[in-house]
Amino acid sequence: MAQVQDYIRTIPDFPHAGIMFRDVTTLFADPRGFRIAVDQLLQPYAGRRIDVVVGLEARGFILGGAVAHQLSAGFVPVRKKGKLPAATISEDYTLEYGQATVEVHDDAIAPGQSVLIVDDLLATGGTAEAGIKLVERLGGDIVGCAFVVDLPDLGGRARLEGLGMKVHALCA
Ligand code: PRP
Ligand code: ADE
Repeated sequence: MAQVQDYIRTIPDFPHAGIMFRDVTTLFADPRGFRIAVDQLLQPYAGRRIDVVVGLEARGFILGGAVAHQLSAGFVPVRKKGKLPAATISEDYTLEYGQATVEVHDDAIAPGQSVLIVDDLLATGGTAEAGIKLVERLGGDIVGCAFVVDLPDLGGRARLEGLGMKVHALCA
C-alpha cells in the first residue's frame, strides 16, 4: 500500500543550487495521497480539544484547512509580511534559504485556546519557531506541531523539542 512519502518528489537545486526541494504538490494532487496525509496528520489529536489550527504559509494553509475541518476547529493563517489586513503582530526568522517575516492578526487567538500548528515541512524549524512565538504571544496553548515531512539533518525537530513542543511528522 502506498505511503505518504511515495507521493512526494524531490527537485534538485530549487529554488537555489544545493537545495533538495521536497515537492508536496504531487501529494496534494492525488486523492488518496491527500486523504492519507490529512488523516495521519490529525490522528494524534482526534478526540482532543483543539480550538484553532494555525497554518503556516503557504502549504500549511492547504493541510491546515483540511485538518481544521476534520477536527471541527477554527483555522488561523500565519502569513508572510504585508498580507493581513487588520492589526498584526510579527516575528522575523531565518530560512534554509533566506530571511522572512511572518504575521498573525492580533485578535486571531484568545488566551487559553488550544492550538495545533500545521505545515507541510520542517527543515531548520525557523518558520515553525516564528509561528510558535506568535501563538504564545497571543496566549495560545500549543498542543503540538504537525508536519508531513521532517528533514532531521536540518535540526528543526530538535529545535522545536527544545522549546518544549511535541512534534508529529509523517515521513523524513
Ligand atoms: C517552506 C515550508 C515551511 C518552511 C520550512 O516554506 O513550507 O514553511 O519552508 O523551512 P524551515 O523549517 O527551515 O523554516 P517556504 O518558506 O518555502 O514558503 P512558501 O510555503 O510560502 O513557499
Ligand atoms: N523549505 C525549506 N527547505 C525545504 C525543502 N528542502 N523542500 C521544501 N521546502 C523547504
